Amino acid sequence: MTSFANILLKWFRDNGRELPWRETHDPYAIWLSEIILQQTQVKQGWSYWERFMRRWPTVESLAAASEDDVLREWQGLGYYSRARNLHFAAKQIVAMGEFPQTLDEIKSLKGVGDYTAAAIGSIAFGLPAAVVDGNVYRVLSRYFGVETPINTTEGKKTFTALAQSLLPVKEASAYNQALMDFGAIQCTPQSPQCVTCPLQESCVALRENRVGMLPVKQKTLKVKERHLSYVYIRCKDYVAIHRRGAGDIWQGLYEPYLVGEDNNGVDLQQCLLLKKNVRHVLTHRILIADFYFLETEARLELGEGYIWVHESDLERYAVPRLVELLYEEVHAVLGNRK
Ligand code: ADE
Ligand code: SF4
Repeated sequence: MTSFANILLKWFRDNGRELPWRETHDPYAIWLSEIILQQTQVKQGWSYWERFMRRWPTVESLAAASEDDVLREWQGLGYYSRARNLHFAAKQIVAMGEFPQTLDEIKSLKGVGDYTAAAIGSIAFGLPAAVVDGNVYRVLSRYFGVETPINTTEGKKTFTALAQSLLPVKEASAYNQALMDFGAIQCTPQSPQCVTCPLQESCVALRENRVGMLPVKQKTLKVKERHLSYVYIRCKDYVAIHRRGAGDIWQGLYEPYLVGEDNNGVDLQQCLLLKKNVRHVLTHRILIADFYFLETEARLELGEGYIWVHESDLERYAVPRLVELLYEEVHAVLGNRK
């Protein structure tokens, strides 16, 4: 009685949460609970599950409902594709004639991935499939002291295999739900309850004082790069600039013509390239800018928001540092030609 699974199962009998979908063997009710709990906490999802079950007690009744009604009942839960998939899958199940009972068939339902299929399969039908999610990564990495980063292909493989190898084939349902609850109640992300933990004597992380360091996540080093091209368009000493709007960087600051998808007929081939690949590092991304210059005889039609400002007045318009660099470049390359 001292294996990981046995201790966990005993803990579950004493501490497992009493949830309404745990009092049924109806695969429809269990499937519904798993879809709701995909991106929703138990506390919030509970009443939704009850309302869905009251309104649509069978998969046939849900399949016969209108999508509008299903979406309205889902209101407040977010991630509405779940509701749309739920409704779609209800019709799939009705067409199948009965609730699918193998892992592959369950996975063929819209909105059901590996985790959800393992949860439904084990809880509703006792299929020996281990669930693997963030909870499982955390508990296993700590208990076994595994430092493989969880957000890598190797990590996923390692922890999936480990979880599966620990699964007591005849008690897949209880084991999976025990892991879910253990990760939510005992071995929590912040300040896990090691002092009262029944696994404390054999927990590697606790013994080696590494609980706070596990699980390991590989830092994503690459900051997003964004390429952009500015054109300093001048017409008889007036320069076209516009003010940046909300919803992006540099809100309210001014900038010269920024080449976008609809570049209003400004042909970069006709512009003078001042400088290429100017790197500018922001907190969350790296900008890589090309600077161009274009002298025109008539004012171009540049689209909404552009104003023409006399070059000597440019300094009155606040610009980002990157645009300052562009101005400096214009002066360096062209200033002496004026
Ligand atoms: N999270 C996902 N599935 C769950 C379940 N069946 N019970 C508790 N929490 C869960
Ligand atoms: Fe998690 Fe602490 Fe228990 Fe180890 S002793 S399994 S870290 S709660």
